[in-house]
Amino acid sequence: MSIQGKDYVTITDHSTGQSMDLPILRGTDGVPVIDINQLRKKMNLYTFDPGFVSTAACESKITFIDGEEGRLLFRGYPIEELAEHSSFLEVCYLLLYGELPTEGEYDKFRDLITHHTLLHEGLREFYKGFRRDAHPMAIMVGILGAMSAFYHDSLDISDPNSREVSAHRLIAKIPTIAAWAYRYSKGEPFPYPRNELGYASNFLHMMFSYPTEPYAINSIAAKAMDLLFLLHADHGQNASASTIRLAGSSKANPFACISASVGTLWGPAHGGANEAVIKMLADIGSTKNIAKALERAKDKDDPFRLMGFGHRVYKNYDPRAKLMRNMCQQVLEDLQVDDPLLEVAEALEEAALQDEYFASRRLFPNVDFYSGIVLRALGIPTNMFTVIFTMGRSVGWISQWNEMINAERVRIGRPSQLYTGPAQRAYVPIEQRK
Ligand code: ACO
Repeated sequence: MSIQGKDYVTITDHSTGQSMDLPILRGTDGVPVIDINQLRKKMNLYTFDPGFVSTAACESKITFIDGEEGRLLFRGYPIEELAEHSSFLEVCYLLLYGELPTEGEYDKFRDLITHHTLLHEGLREFYKGFRRDAHPMAIMVGILGAMSAFYHDSLDISDPNSREVSAHRLIAKIPTIAAWAYRYSKGEPFPYPRNELGYASNFLHMMFSYPTEPYAINSIAAKAMDLLFLLHADHGQNASASTIRLAGSSKANPFACISASVGTLWGPAHGGANEAVIKMLADIGSTKNIAKALERAKDKDDPFRLMGFGHRVYKNYDPRAKLMRNMCQQVLEDLQVDDPLLEVAEALEEAALQDEYFASRRLFPNVDFYSGIVLRALGIPTNMFTVIFTMGRSVGWISQWNEMINAERVRIGRPSQLYTGPAQRAYVPIEQRK
């Protein structure tokens, strides 16, 4: 940053004639940002940017997205390389600690996560309070928030060790919490985690095993599930990550903050889209109905949108969607699943990409477009899709939260507003109101 050089923009308020030089900050990669921190103090002005379309809300070293090129890096490593060579747990370590682990560090981390998968037995009782037909995401919001009532010893956010224990607990316990949400809705027994299994295999075991018979883990399904978690592990300052930063800035405990992020992710414009995609594809039903669906998606008077399409940041193919599409074809082939929705999805994608409306707005498939078909092939019920997303993303949230707390100066998040309500007026007693 150099005010003497050219790295600044000058802002002038023509109503007062006041001017100010605003520094331009450049990160390692990506679009430069204008530092407006002193704007209010020096010019008595705020900026107005609903939806944060042009606003960088924080500095971060975790994830980089180049939306124009369709690039995604976790701590500098391209998602394609991590998908090919790494595993979800290794990526958890990378996101949390900033570097890939050595063999020794990885073994220690995996051991730690493996030995924190059990839930407090009191928390297990919590499930019984939910209605049987509760959406599993509602249960996730409740149980993750309730962890703050059970793990008091790791709630001191000013203690780095305490924050680390909370992060480990979250990553370790979330498969148990998620699988039990599903088993509760089915009225089935809650299987305990098994330490000899890997992260994804253990989740599949808790989802699908019965105490009455042995359950064989399908290695193709376990590998696919691990990759699904990995692809969802973080994604910069999206709505749910911004939620955890905002909630955390009030110094709330980590589990309360995570619960807020889960609620945000649930929305169909965010993580809830994977569930909505499957519903949409099933409603379209056949390739012959695609043209009609596209017409509806383009009609501004119709609330219907092409779910799994479009992204705030990507104006190119979402790299995760590319990997997801390849995985989808591979998993269906390996598991010998013939899902008619894949044909509809591929034809819909092709038609949308050739359509002027989608092309001119640079709308491409996002990560959610194909993930639902993979999950269906693995036997995961539709209402668990966003739960799977939650499981993968929880490490991203806790890494973003930790980074925020570690920052030099943590101030409570407090956006301002452009007030357009009534000007000050006097109270009118009720008998005088018309
Ligand atoms: N179908 C039809 N039109 C769309 C779609 C879509 N899926 N997405 C965007 N558009 C249109 C908008 O109507 C708008 O058109 P206009 O310029 O004529 O008004 C234009 O494309 C730009 O879209 P915005 O809504 O301004 O984009 P924004 O960045 O605010 O929203 C979002 C991004 C929410 C992802 C949007 O594309 C969408 O609703 N997609 C469908 C839901 C979805 O798949 N969400 C998952 C996102 S990825 C994730 O969270 C994991």
